Amino acid sequence: MSERLRIALTKGRLQDKSVELFEAAGLDCAPVRSPGRRLIHALPNYPLDVVLAKAPDVITYVEHGVCDLGVVGKDTILEKGGAFYEVLDLGFGRCRFALAVKKGSDFYGTYKTRRIASKYPNVTRAFFEGKGMDVDIIKIEGSVELAPILDLADGIVDIVETGATLKENGLEPIEDVHQVSARLIVNTASMKLYKSEITDFLFRVERELEGRA
Ligand code: PRP
Repeated sequence: MSERLRIALTKGRLQDKSVELFEAAGLDCAPVRSPGRRLIHALPNYPLDVVLAKAPDVITYVEHGVCDLGVVGKDTILEKGGAFYEVLDLGFGRCRFALAVKKGSDFYGTYKTRRIASKYPNVTRAFFEGKGMDVDIIKIEGSVELAPILDLADGIVDIVETGATLKENGLEPIEDVHQVSARLIVNTASMKLYKSEITDFLFRVERELEGRA
């Protein structure tokens, strides 16, 4: 008998794109399209239950095996890490991590320890460690662009999609840190226990992605 799989989707933008992809792959996602306040939805024509969660929680649920699969941004994967298989680049949610500073400021032109604000302290640390550069990192929860404007930081490491937020706040990207897109992740035990079910799901999604390429 086929096991029902459970997948955690990152709520918001990635949720909508995931639903589009799964529907194109033949899965009826009507319950997820009009979820109301419900957080878990059984798909009517495929043995898959969909859980809606915040990005870092998607990783937590998959790592603990309460969800077999997850859709989450590479940004969250890089920041949070964890033990799971990252099996597919889903091609949407494309953006990048960039180092940005106040327009015209000379970030590298001093020996003073630089101060960097970010929602992603681990990504920031790894980036500057890779350069052998000592920086002070300040964790900010949102609208990080404020930190340099308020002179709390010399720069930020943040997600840039269109670049509009930086531009409208007098900042400019000076270096790319990492490319980001949505990834499909799989619990390591589920991959063995439910190999045929997961393979079927992956096959459908991959076939649709190949059609898009
Ligand atoms: C993200 C990011 C930037 C903005 C970039 O913020 O942190 O602020 O989007 O997008 P853009 O390059 O297209 O302008 P988000 O909307 O997630 O809000 P937050 O800063 O409050 O977390």
